[in-house]
Amino acid sequence: MPVHVTGFVRADAVTDDMEVAWMNAEMTYQFTCGACHELHAPDDFSPQEWISQMQSMVWNANMRSADALMVLKWLQTKSEEARETK
Ligand code: HEC
Repeated sequence: MPVHVTGFVRADAVTDDMEVAWMNAEMTYQFTCGACHELHAPDDFSPQEWISQMQSMVWNANMRSADALMVLKWLQTKSEEARETK
């Protein structure tokens, strides 16, 4: 089904939303994943490696899949960013 959009969303509004989502992801990571062990820095693993790390940890952490996906996206993006600047 084609999506029809009227009006537009300002780019800075989208950016603000992303920042809130990112902050949420980071806090979820620190709170949920930091409960059992020291946290790994995002660039300790490649974006690819994070997929399997998350897969083995998600049942441990008992997370909702939406939260797990958000945290995964955050880790992968931060990892990618850190690797690009190295
Ligand atoms: C219920 C406790 C628990 C929670 C919550 C948990 N972990 Fe773990 N994690 C472990 C244990 C125990 C190990 C080591 C044994 C193993 O690898 O299964 C581990 C190992 C890891 C490793 C591998 C460490 C290494 O040096 O190779 C990573 C990465 C990791 N966890 C990430 C996460 C992430 C990301 C989350 C949040 C989604 C998370 N963990 C939540 C218990 C937990």
